Amino acid sequence: MHHINVRNAHNKSRLKNIMGSRGARGAAVAVAVLQLAVLLSPPASAAPLSLDFHAASCPQLESIVLSSVQAALQKEIALAAGLLRIFFHDCFPQGCDASVYLNGTGSEQLEGANLSLQPRALKLVDDIRAKVHAACGPTVSCADISALATRDAVVVSGGPSYSVLLGQLDSLAPASSDLVGKLPNPSETSVRVLLSNFRTAGLGEPADLVALSGGHTVGRAQCIFRRPVDDAFSGKLENNCTVVNPKRLQELDVITPDAFDNGYYIALTTRQGVFSSDMALIRDPSTAPIVRQFAQDKASFFAQFAKSMIKLSNAPRPGGNVGEIRRRCFSTNGPRLVADA
Ligand code: HEM
Ligand SMILES: *[C@@H]1O[C@H](CO)[C@@H](O)[C@H](O)[C@H]1NC(C)=O
Ligand SMILES: *[C@@H]1O[C@H](CO)[C@@H](O)[C@H](O)[C@H]1NC(C)=O
Ligand SMILES: *[C@@H]1O[C@H](CO)[C@@H](O)[C@H](O)[C@H]1NC(C)=O
Repeated sequence: MHHINVRNAHNKSRLKNIMGSRGARGAAVAVAVLQLAVLLSPPASAAPLSLDFHAASCPQLESIVLSSVQAALQKEIALAAGLLRIFFHDCFPQGCDASVYLNGTGSEQLEGANLSLQPRALKLVDDIRAKVHAACGPTVSCADISALATRDAVVVSGGPSYSVLLGQLDSLAPASSDLVGKLPNPSETSVRVLLSNFRTAGLGEPADLVALSGGHTVGRAQCIFRRPVDDAFSGKLENNCTVVNPKRLQELDVITPDAFDNGYYIALTTRQGVFSSDMALIRDPSTAPIVRQFAQDKASFFAQFAKSMIKLSNAPRPGGNVGEIRRRCFSTNGPRLVADA
């Protein structure tokens, strides 16, 4: 699956620097130096992903992540939703490579001023990264830490556990705006369009779309994303968002806002969905039976959510598992690289 060679970003950038400063003769020397370096340290090969990828090199990994997530959520439960949404936004465009954590010029975080990933949740992952690297050295990627922290946040909030394949490398650049633009739109009313969005991330089954939208069982949204008024509930939303307080954050699961349960689906069956994309799931005959099933049977939601999260964790990486272990989640180790598009 992921037997692709890791390009050595350090050697590449060193070569470029030497070539820039010393011209053609320098370049020949640089090539010789590079060849020597390659002989001395053969290119690392990305091992296949596995559950026990870090078992020997960082046995404390999972306990450090779990205890950090437990402590953080005890202070601020809303971080669980923050982590879950960040993970979705990381994995969807080009696989789970922590590309969404890069900030500054050209970053995915600047794609649309309304994106609003929770800054404290982004920072939590880098804080955990610091603890893990202090214990084990820089052997675990931000991508792996984000995946584990998200899983643990789901569990701490009351949701199902699932296994996480480890060994993902951190990207060397953000995803292009083209790929980020494939993220689904909350004003989308067509399940067909939502399904085709999800298919680009390897999530082609209607059950994947319905179960993963269940991430909205926790979390809140800015008023600008609410659906237009066409019934009593959307009228209340409108009133809360215009008359009462336009700056308020709307619970996405109005029944049990902070618990990871099937309240979101129960709300949908009574037309209390916040986004048009949420309501589409109960309005379309291809997804409505799945919504009703999840509303009646929490266990069947949990089983499908776990399955679909594992799929999301393995969303395709078009360039393969290529990258590095970032020393800081917010920037690449080498010179800051920006997306092409
Ligand atoms: C049909 C697909 C989806 C659409 C259109 C959508 C859209 C949105 C939007 C617009 C927000 C509010 C952002 C803001 O107010 O700044 C949001 C929040 C959220 N989304 Fe989704 N989303 C989708 C699927 C997912 C998936 C697959 C997950 C994870 C499995 C997810 C997890 C969340 C969470 C947890 C929040 C709350 C974040 C917080 O409270 O900080 N969403 N979503
Ligand atoms: C990136 O995010 C971190 C954590 O939120 C913050 O400390 C840092 O200033 C940010 N850097 C840029 C360039 O935005
Ligand atoms: C943010 O949302 C507002 C209200 O929907 C919209 O007018 C604006 O264009 C959006 N900005 C970006 C950068 O997407
Ligand atoms: C509107 O605001 C009130 C008061 O904060 C709240 O009880 C109610 O649940 C809100 N309505 C919706 C649809 O969220």
